[in-house]
Parts: sequence; C-alpha cells; structure tokens
Amino acid sequence: MTTTTKLHPKTIEIVKSTVPVLETHGEQITKRFYELMFSNHPELLNIFNHANQKQGRQQRALAAAVYAAARYIDQLDAILPVVRQIGHKHRSLGIKPEQYPIVGKHLLLAIKDVLGDAATDEVITAWAEAYEAIASVFIQVEKELYDEAAAKHGGWRDFRRFVIAKKVKESDVITSFYLKPEDGKAISDYLPGQYVSVKLSIPGETYTHIRQYSLSDAPGKGYYRISVKREAATADKPAGIVSNYLHDHVQEGDVLELSAPAGEFTLDLSKTTPVVFISGGVGITPLLSMAHTLAIQQPNRPATFIHAAINSRVHAFDEELRMLAERPSFSYHICYESPSDEDRRHPHFGKEGRIDLAWMQSVIPTKDADFHFCGPVPFMKTVYRALQQWGVPEEHIHYEFFGPAGDLTKD
Ligand SMILES: Cc1cc2nc3c(=O)[nH]c(=O)nc-3n(C[C@H](O)[C@H](O)[C@H](O)COP(=O)(O)OP(=O)(O)OC[C@H]3O[C@@H](n4cnc5c(N)ncnc54)[C@H](O)[C@@H]3O)c2cc1C
Ligand code: HEM
Repeated sequence: MTTTTKLHPKTIEIVKSTVPVLETHGEQITKRFYELMFSNHPELLNIFNHANQKQGRQQRALAAAVYAAARYIDQLDAILPVVRQIGHKHRSLGIKPEQYPIVGKHLLLAIKDVLGDAATDEVITAWAEAYEAIASVFIQVEKELYDEAAAKHGGWRDFRRFVIAKKVKESDVITSFYLKPEDGKAISDYLPGQYVSVKLSIPGETYTHIRQYSLSDAPGKGYYRISVKREAATADKPAGIVSNYLHDHVQEGDVLELSAPAGEFTLDLSKTTPVVFISGGVGITPLLSMAHTLAIQQPNRPATFIHAAINSRVHAFDEELRMLAERPSFSYHICYESPSDEDRRHPHFGKEGRIDLAWMQSVIPTKDADFHFCGPVPFMKTVYRALQQWGVPEEHIHYEFFGPAGDLTKD
C-alpha cells in the first residue's frame, strides 16, 4: 500500500517541531495516557498485558512509535515496515479500527495534562490531525493482515477454539502443548518463526489475558505446538500469570482460544545462504521451528544451531536438536552458564559460562550467513553486539523479542 498525507503544511510543521518535546516527556505522556485510558475504558485491560504496563515496557514501545510517526509525518510510507511489524502484533491481539479513536482521545488528553500551557489549541489540533493520519495507516495495514489471515486455507479472522491434544514436559521449566482445532477443520500453514496469541479467562481474574507463543514445530503437521516456560515467582517478582496457569491448570482435552499465526521474524526459505540460530532459554522456540522446517524444505542448506541454557535441567529439546544434527549440514552447539554436577560427570556442552564472540567464531564456520536469535534481553544484547563486532551486516541479523520490541544498542 502507499500512503498519502493530506495534512496542511502548518500542521506538519507543528507536529515535527514537537518531536523534541515528546522526546523529553514521551514516557510521562504515555504513562498518563494509559492511566486515563484504563480508568475510562477498563474493558481494554482485557487486551493489554498488565505486567508490561507495570514494568513500563509497553510505555517505551509506544513512545518510540509515536516519535517515529511524528518525525515522518509528511512521508508516512517510510514507517510502513514498522507499522507492519506492530500491525502483526495488533492483528494477533484482535485490535479493531473502532479502538483507534479511544487511543487518540486519551493520547491528546495526556499531552494536554503533561505539557500544560505549552499544549496550545494549535498544537492539540495539529496532533489530532496527525494522529488520525497515523491511525488510518495502521488501520489499513491491519485490515490487509486480517484479510490475509482469514483468506488462507484453514485460516480465520479473530480467535478460534483449539483443544489440547497433548501436553509434554520438555524440561524442568518448559512444557509443550499440542493444539488441534475444536471444529476439526483445516488449520492454516505458517512461516517458521511466527507466533500465535492465546487468550485465557482464568478463574478469579477480572480480565482476560492474552499472551504470544511462538510455534515451535514445523508447519504442515495438522497441529500447532507451543512451548511455554514457567515464569516462577522470585524474591522481587510475582509469578507470571498465564505461564503458571498453563503449566498447572490447563490439561489435555481443555480448550484454548488462539488467533491465527502472525509475525515477521521468519526464516527466508528462498535464500540458500548458510544460516545460524542462536537461542537463549525459551527463546529456542521460533528457532526450533525454523530448524525443523529447514530439515524438511532445505536439508542441505548449511546450518549452525547454538543453544544457551543454565544447565541440562532447564535445557529443552536437546533430543530433537540431536536428531536434526544427524545431517552433516547441521551442527549443534551447547553453552551452559552453570553446569550441574551431572553435566560435569557427562560433559556434552561446548562452552561453560556466557556466550561470547570468541566462542561463537570458533563454532560458526562463516560470518557470511543469516543470523537469527532470540532469548532474554541481556542475552540478545550480547549476541547482537558480538555480531556487530564481527562485522555481520545489519541485513543479515534477524531477531525477535519475547515482549514489546526494544533497542539492543542501548544498555
Ligand atoms: C512474539 C512472542 C513470542 C513468544 N514466544 C514465547 C514462547 O515460545 N514461549 C514462552 O514461554 N514465552 C513466549 N513469549 C512470552 C510470553 O508471551 C509471555 O510473556 C510469558 O509466558 C510470560 O507470561 P506470564 O503471563 O506468565 O507472565 P506475566 O504475568 O505477563 O509476567 C511477565 C513477567 O513480568 C514479571 N512481573 C509481573 N508483574 C511484575 C511487577 N509488578 N514487577 C516486576 N515484575 C513483574 C513476572 O514475574 C514475569 O516474569 C513470547 C512473547 C512474544 C512477544
Ligand atoms: C497509532 C496508534 C498506535 C500505535 C503507534 C501503537 C503502537 C504500539 C507498539 C509500538 C506496540 C508494541 C509492539 C511490539 O513491539 O510488540 C503496541 C502493542 C500493543 N498495542 Fe498498540 N499502537 C497503537 C494503537 C493501538 C490501539 C488502538 C490499541 C487497542 C486499544 C492498541 C493495543 C495494543 C496492545 C494490546 C499491544 C500489546 C501490548 C502489551 O500487551 O504489552 N494499540 N502498540
């Protein structure tokens, strides 16, 4: 699609000149925005992730999107790739066009609240027009994504009921759920690396909870598999709501509501370049799907799979990867941060401690490869910086955040 902005030059000038103000107050504005919006529209708590709100992660993601849009308000085509990525998440969550004016109204109220006198009528009017222009780009992109998801063979538009056909423990902390549609009809194929959103009504919880889970097996098998890590409580963090509920209370035969596969972190199967997968902890899931798909569709394409885990107790899918590594074109390397006594008695890991560039260079045959990685944010920062240091070009670096997208270049 292409976008044309019919905004008045004066409006564009005002919006662009407020970018530095937004940069200074961005998080404050979005924080206030959420407070106002949730108090007037508590029903939206059914779709927003409460933990992301509490930790400010979503505030930062939204602020960054708003700055980007403001900076490119006279050439919104330039932000289409970003809009598409966010659009995938929105489509997967079931965000609707009629919800955009609600967000717009509360964003303007928050700008007024935070900027006070600096938010003149002229500034507010300019922002109202700009928001409408930005929102219409999102709505258009998302319409295309909804239509695409529904038009696929076995596809659907919103949420669909899936029965848990099998629940399998993969490690002390990760459990897989094999899901089949309750209606018994076909399910759409997906690109390896894509995720689904799971919507849950948990007894005792006021609102529904929606979370994303990457599909961890290859497509085309008649089921979807998700593999969920239990986010246990620690001294300073409460237990994760959905992951613990799935582990403890959701059993074979139960039903989960899923939206159709989404996301742009995928393996490009039209390429023949060597491919490298680097996963940390449960970040293995999208990469495992890619590795399985590679085995089926491009068995001779050279691939290196590196997995980092604390130790073998929490190391999932070791057997699946060992089987994939029976092909000469596929090598598999393990890094344990803190090997157990048992691991030391039967060493099967290539590196102890944290992953670093020197070790990566010792096991990855070439830097002329496409690199895909996923894991906890500090792990992703380490990998990203190591690849940059090695001189891997940006267009060969692909990654996914298991939360709102962040910036890997910042501490
Ligand atoms: C694209 C994508 C793909 C994903 N794929 C997978 C996957 O394949 N497997 C998987 O296991 N996960 C995956 N995730 C993560 C998943 O969506 C959930 O975020 C995860 O399961 C945690 O959800 P939860 O409800 O258990 O925890 P939440 O209740 O959402 O809490 C999340 C974290 O925040 C902490 N927290 C909550 N409240 C506070 C507070 N007040 N202060 C401080 N900390 C707090 C919790 O302790 C927990 O560690 C993916 C995410 C995305 C975006
Ligand atoms: C132009 C307007 C909007 C912008 C710029 C915007 C921007 C964003 C961004 C950047 C993310 C994070 C994506 C990621 O990296 O995962 C996000 C997620 C999200 N957005 Fe929007 N959004 C807009 C409108 C809306 C609307 C109208 C709704 C619904 C009321 C909505 C609901 C959500 C939800 C629920 C998430 C996931 C956040 C979470 O649960 O943590 N957004 N949005």
